[in-house]
Amino acid sequence: MKKSMIDWRAACAFAFMAVCSQEASAALPDPDPGAALVAGYCTQCHGAPSPSSHSAREWAGVVDRMQNWRVIKGFGAIPDGDLRPLLDYLKRHGRAQ
Ligand code: HEC
Repeated sequence: MKKSMIDWRAACAFAFMAVCSQEASAALPDPDPGAALVAGYCTQCHGAPSPSSHSAREWAGVVDRMQNWRVIKGFGAIPDGDLRPLLDYLKRHGRAQ
């Protein structure tokens, strides 16, 4: 009898943890790693840009210009390995042409 009581509590604690972690991931605005790259590379000089403010075609040019700003302002260019997923993210969520 005593043993089954412990098992029930353990099961309950486990269920509680599952609910908690589900809530934590639902609270993230966008789990796409591209969103984190934008937050990391695009917020030093202005607020995070909305991906829907440009079309996929426009984003390449805008990000190119921002690379120049980063270099001019001493932040350094975004490395290739991060630039590609960052640009992919903006294009994927960009507005229609
Ligand atoms: C080193 C500073 C700096 C960083 C970092 C920066 N920007 Fe900018 N951004 C600017 C400046 C200055 C302007 C206004 C002049 C211009 O548009 O070139 C601007 C303007 C913008 C605009 C509005 C103008 C337009 O063409 O719509 C967007 C969108 C934008 N940035 C996106 C981004 C994105 C995306 C990133 C990250 C890849 C980024 N910025 C990172 C300096 C920066």
